Amino acid sequence: MSTVPAGIPRHLAVIMDGNGRWAERRKRPRAIGHRAGARAVNVCIDFCLERGIGALTLFAFSSENWGRPQEEVGALMKLFLSALDREVSELDRRGVRVRFIGERERFPASIRERMASAEALTAGNQRLHLVIAASYGGRQDIAQAARSLAEDVLAGRLRSDEINENTMASRMALADLPAPDLFIRTGGDHRVSNFLLWQLAYTELWFTEQLWPDLDVPTLQRALEDYARRERRFGLTSAQLGGHSPENPSA
Ligand code: FPP
Repeated sequence: MSTVPAGIPRHLAVIMDGNGRWAERRKRPRAIGHRAGARAVNVCIDFCLERGIGALTLFAFSSENWGRPQEEVGALMKLFLSALDREVSELDRRGVRVRFIGERERFPASIRERMASAEALTAGNQRLHLVIAASYGGRQDIAQAARSLAEDVLAGRLRSDEINENTMASRMALADLPAPDLFIRTGGDHRVSNFLLWQLAYTELWFTEQLWPDLDVPTLQRALEDYARRERRFGLTSAQLGGHSPENPSA
């Protein structure tokens, strides 16, 4: 993941929204929309592999999604289980490292076991780092980082004046990856919805009306072209940057 063609994000973060509406427009149960959404996940992964994007983080299930009707949550669990069973060996073959962030203890044991074995099987892969955010919430991520630092202070391993942006960042999920360069949200809403709040501080945001199950390569291509045209200043002036950005020397 060290050398990336100019204009290509090193890390893409995606909110896959619109599955429910896709199904409702077809007068089908929402679960059918999620199933179609799982196919779009493959479109997105293939795109990242082809374009040399090193990391892809997908928001598959938020901490708040547990509050959806039981039938829908059950259908999503079944879908996660079958996707894990079906896709992981192929992802491994293609050099994809799979990893999960979020409150994994809230998932049934059958899913937790498959998450662990997918991570173990693919741990050595380097072509694409695929992160699935499941029962994830950005505020909860920040809170757990703060708790982890507080525990170190209490135990005398850290001084309170050593708590700063760097030590916080080191305790967040995805501490080992560059922050997302580009965020895409499908489904027409223009918000971040408690996804990667800390990590998105300087991320370029891109929104489309397209519903997630309809995701296609031309849409992803448009997002990338738009991203490549943007100047990322990270709070500095254009003149100061002189074509470089402090967080991403290739941008
Ligand atoms: C949001 O659409 C989508 C979800 C809550 C679930 C995302 C899950 C998938 C794309 C399926 C499988 C994923 C993996 C990683 C195998 P929504 O239901 O909120 O849509 P709506 O806004 O139209 O109601």
